[in-house]
Amino acid sequence: MFQKIASIISNLTLKEKADLLSGKDFWFTATVNGLAKMMVSDGPSGLRKQADSSDALGLNKSVVAVNFPSSALTAASFDRDLLETLGQNLGQAAKAERVGVLLGPGINLKRSPLAGRNFEYFSEDPYLAGELAAAYVKGVQKTGVGVSVKHFAANNRENQRFTSSSNIDERSLRELYLAAFEKVVKTAQPATIMCSYNAINGTLNSQNQRLLTKILREEWGFNGLVMSDWGAVADHVAALKAGLDLEMPGKGLASTEEIVQAVQTGELDEKIVDRAALRVVEMVEKWRPDSDTKVAYDLDKQHLFARQLADDSIVLLKNDQHVLPLDQNRSIAVIGQLASQPRYQGGGSAHVNAYHVVTPLAAIRAAKDDINYEAGYQIDKDQIDHAAEQAAIDLAKTADQVVAFAGFPESFESEGFDKKTISLPDNQNHLITQLAAVNSKVTVVLQNGSAVEMPWIKQVPAVLETYLAGEAVGEATWDILSGQVNPSGKLAESFPIHLADNPTYLTFNADPNDENYHEGLFVGYRYYDKKKQTPLFPFGHGLSYTHFAYSNLKLVKAADQVTVDFTITNTGQVAGQETAQIYLSNKTSQIEKSVKDLKNFVKVLLAPGESKRLSVNLDQRAFSWYNPKLADWQLDNGQYNVVVAASSQDLRLQQTIMTDWAKSRRLHISRDTYLINIMNHSELKAILKTVKLDQLVDQLVSTPGNKAILANMPLRALGMMGVSDQQIEQLISLANQQ
Ligand code: BGC
Repeated sequence: MFQKIASIISNLTLKEKADLLSGKDFWFTATVNGLAKMMVSDGPSGLRKQADSSDALGLNKSVVAVNFPSSALTAASFDRDLLETLGQNLGQAAKAERVGVLLGPGINLKRSPLAGRNFEYFSEDPYLAGELAAAYVKGVQKTGVGVSVKHFAANNRENQRFTSSSNIDERSLRELYLAAFEKVVKTAQPATIMCSYNAINGTLNSQNQRLLTKILREEWGFNGLVMSDWGAVADHVAALKAGLDLEMPGKGLASTEEIVQAVQTGELDEKIVDRAALRVVEMVEKWRPDSDTKVAYDLDKQHLFARQLADDSIVLLKNDQHVLPLDQNRSIAVIGQLASQPRYQGGGSAHVNAYHVVTPLAAIRAAKDDINYEAGYQIDKDQIDHAAEQAAIDLAKTADQVVAFAGFPESFESEGFDKKTISLPDNQNHLITQLAAVNSKVTVVLQNGSAVEMPWIKQVPAVLETYLAGEAVGEATWDILSGQVNPSGKLAESFPIHLADNPTYLTFNADPNDENYHEGLFVGYRYYDKKKQTPLFPFGHGLSYTHFAYSNLKLVKAADQVTVDFTITNTGQVAGQETAQIYLSNKTSQIEKSVKDLKNFVKVLLAPGESKRLSVNLDQRAFSWYNPKLADWQLDNGQYNVVVAASSQDLRLQQTIMTDWAKSRRLHISRDTYLINIMNHSELKAILKTVKLDQLVDQLVSTPGNKAILANMPLRALGMMGVSDQQIEQLISLANQQ
């Protein structure tokens, strides 16, 4: 195929080739000289194919499609298989609608809870985001539809997203912000990558050669197409040179002319045009729907899957006195306008024209006919509606149990701008406090795209986080409230007590041009761990209607990995799923490091009383860190602690292991080498004797205080102790000969 496409390209005129490098319109690639065109469409949680008037912000209606839960919720499933099935469902819808490439998932890291698009992203943890995204991409692409993974990279805020620069140190960039993309590129080979609007360290991503070519293609081996986010190209010629292939949606004739002119003036090598044109044609040939035959797909079946996905993802945050599942023999009051007008999807390009929305109130009433309901507040207002609130309080007084729906209104969070607060509107917070004062069994059900403050947390016994649960929001919420489904979701992000607790609080959106990532590696749980600070709800937290015991941890070191075996037992009365999280801590290396990092996870279904032996692997990459000085991943030998946990703060089993895989790097000894490094090395230590420094050193280290001082003393400072320059040089020379 490559030969055929190369010969097609060689027969095109410069203008025709230049035409191919921008979209024909909002959603189609260009068509030149009889070559096929192809449609692309959003999005991550349902198809947003706009047949008529087009826009990038979800303003105009698209075809009817099933709206699946947003990634903020699906990530809480910690379930690779479910994400792959989600991908397959999305692929089927795209195929049936003759869309060749789906724009999504967005896999940017959740750095700040204020970021407007957090609902569309998976996690604050790159391992989790990468694993789930890879499964999703594989699922879509199995159906013959391509994926554009977005937004590459470090697009962690919405304000000034077209121009702001994400200023990040190299190690954090590699270990946090690029890691999920790297995983997806290397393991799922997405058809395309979408470069984001922002700059990294001053260079716009659409013109960032290091990002689009050096890292993406040369280091990771990406061989698909790079397209721009919609309108992200500021200088098309510079973008092509950097490695962009397709500008979307394009500026019509102006886009073609600027390229033709640049080639004619010698500013742009025609080979670069050929390369990008080839990639466009390759993408179209590989992913366009093959014929005009209509592919049918079953929307009702997809709706059922949307419900199952939400069922397996919703997170039970708190459940004191077993308030949930609800006692269906006792009265239940439903309160909160979000019960009848739920928020189930995010705003912007992810917005879907949903097939069949079932509200929580409808789902609860379908199951139980004696449900009383009061709105209690108006969603889009902050002010208390006293009459509505009083009616809700009166209802709560008479009910045995209250389910209070609360959440962020859509005007609060969407693509295109960041939030200013993570507090619920005042009227909702006030109502919850009032309800808790008159009823001891209030369950708060949250509908929101990202972490939220809960000033009333101590007053209510139960909280259920449903995020933006998709069109089956009502059915899934009732499945959990009623106990028909045992909750198994776990948070893919930390919930701080106060926004100000978050490590990015001082810097996020502090400057219109520069977003400075001063917190470095300490994002999300990595920060709370290091600060020994307990968040409101930690990363990985989620309760169940049953309990799980962990036992018998066994670590087995093989030639290139560690196998972690352990047992989980369901010790309760009902079947349930548990996600075990495997974290790793580096105990010996001197590098700056987090307390622990998530390196694997496994979800298991257990009947009451059942035990299963589980086995997960930690590969060598899990033990590596990115060393900017080497411009590579570095594997350090040493002692590691392997932790098997039910959440990032609920550690169940731990064991240490020594690794010795890394070939020892030659230690270069200089006058600046610290004496302690020589003493910790048996062969080098022997040289001390040869140069007659052993007695002096032994004497110096004989007390612990001195030893510590010596640890901080370079060889050149030994002169102060009467060591001659000649001895120091001899020591260095012999050591380097070793
Ligand atoms: C968004 C992308 C989206 C594109 C097309 C942009 O505004 O950032 O995520 O795929 O529009 O709708």
